Amino acid sequence: MAHITNIIKEKLQTVIETLYQTNEFAVQINETKPEFEGDYTIVLFSLVKQLKKSPEALGEEIGAKIVAENNDLFTKYNVIKGFLNLTINDSFYNQIIFDNYNNATYGKKLKIGKKVMVEYSSPNTNKPLHLGHLRNNFLGCAIASIYEANGFDVIKTCIVNDRGIHICKSMIAWQLYGAGDTPQSVNMKGDHFVGLYYVKFNDVYKSQMQELCDNGMSEEQAKTEAPIFKQAQDMLLKWEQNDAEIMQLWQTMNQWVYAGFEDTYNKIGSSFDKIYYESNTYLLGKKIVQKGLQKKVFYQKEDGSVWIDLTNEGLDEKLVQRKDGTSVYITQDIGLAQQKYEEYQIDNSIYVIGNEQDYHMAVLKLICKKLEMSSAENIYHLSYGMVELPTGKMKSREGTVVDADDLVAEMIAKSEQETAKHDKTVDFSKAELTELYNTIGLGAMKYYLLRVDPKKKMIFNPEESIEFQGFTGPFIQYTHARIKSILRKNEFTTAANICNATLLPLEKSLAKLLEQYSAIIEAALVENNPSAIAIYAFELAKIYNSFYGEHSVTNAESANKKELRLQLSGFTATVLKSAMQLLGIQVPERM
Ligand code: ARG
Repeated sequence: MAHITNIIKEKLQTVIETLYQTNEFAVQINETKPEFEGDYTIVLFSLVKQLKKSPEALGEEIGAKIVAENNDLFTKYNVIKGFLNLTINDSFYNQIIFDNYNNATYGKKLKIGKKVMVEYSSPNTNKPLHLGHLRNNFLGCAIASIYEANGFDVIKTCIVNDRGIHICKSMIAWQLYGAGDTPQSVNMKGDHFVGLYYVKFNDVYKSQMQELCDNGMSEEQAKTEAPIFKQAQDMLLKWEQNDAEIMQLWQTMNQWVYAGFEDTYNKIGSSFDKIYYESNTYLLGKKIVQKGLQKKVFYQKEDGSVWIDLTNEGLDEKLVQRKDGTSVYITQDIGLAQQKYEEYQIDNSIYVIGNEQDYHMAVLKLICKKLEMSSAENIYHLSYGMVELPTGKMKSREGTVVDADDLVAEMIAKSEQETAKHDKTVDFSKAELTELYNTIGLGAMKYYLLRVDPKKKMIFNPEESIEFQGFTGPFIQYTHARIKSILRKNEFTTAANICNATLLPLEKSLAKLLEQYSAIIEAALVENNPSAIAIYAFELAKIYNSFYGEHSVTNAESANKKELRLQLSGFTATVLKSAMQLLGIQVPERM
């Protein structure tokens, strides 16, 4: 489906070809500024230079011709300096409204035969998910939906970093201090349970280091000499040697964590088509390192460690395998990058990862290029900024960062309090209420985290996010529910008819914004930025509210106007629902 700026470009192309015998030109098309008459504006300056004509003459020539030849689309034009302002025929909008007011796929593209893999969430298995993972998750789900809406086949994935020293730390602490406890025996979510032991490890580690330092050891030495640290390292070695007992313990504890993650993912509505595990990919990574050595992409130092020299690319030398042959973080990522491509023949590979890994991802992409992996050019790191609470880095029960489960529960509780203030749900059943609180609580949180440019660091303010007014998810959800209530109370009258109505200014503004939806979906893809959708949905809800405040639907001036406004209302609800869906947010029928 072509959107209006593309349609204008196409018409302009024909006109310019006939008038000036050229099809090589570039122009910009903007929405007309409110102080001028018109809907869309062709900015003529580059053409003025190219064709060496005065802006006024050029504007008049093109304006007269484009309107004369497309009088179904344009009703008039005016030229102000280098700007050619065009007024769009109301019938163009009437048709779009009629065609789409109930079209759930409106604005979305048909399949284009391209595959993208979106990796997000990717936790470590030593502790539960935190606020940062939530931002990551919501961004990943939204980006996946945005690609899908642009016609891509999407594979949603995550890599679970399930091996390495971090999980050994939790394992050793459990072995030493767990006394045979399990998540079941203490009635705790498995990821929280394992997280406890990660904290325990650090506590013991700290006090052991302190003791060593008190006895005269240097801090540097104490770090590696602390007994519990050595025990963890020992465990990692045994893990790499496939020690049966350690493998058993590792599997058991990871299973606890996965059950916990699963629970959290279900709660927030996140899912994956494919889950990778580092314990599988790191070996492939090591193989590729060997091949890369032969191809001289990597080089070996005397101590046996393997490196890549990226100084010519403005980076530095980077270790890809330790001297003892064990793999580092990037080793497994090299394997993973290749596996993703080979298994799925993807065209694009997106990694949603925090900006503290910008360097890591720049290195990974370069390495993949040097290894001549075919997908290397299309690796994209969707890098996002830190997120904190207004209170700073709130301590959670595990003593680290803001816990995802705690926060989700808090949001749902808040949505209950907020809903109670509005007195609109007295006849809801218990089940309906539970669902509504979930929808609002999660919607508030997702929207707040997605309405900002991913690159920016941000503060998540739960209080503000839940408000029913302002730049919030609940405001948009509420607008949707309000429209649905209007539609329930009014029958579409002349249904199956295009309303040949002259549009009043607010009707036209609303129609114009609705028409732009497909362009917004495209822009969100080009910029890899879900906030474009979030901001659009907010603008749409605001304009609808102004429209509804100004014009009665139920008691419209005529039957035709009533039908038009019902269709416009239905169209707005359809697009709000669709836009929020792209952000992973549900909209209620009532609230
Ligand atoms: N597990 C890693 C962490 O918590 C993130 C993994 C990101 N993905 C990747 N392919 N490196 O820091």
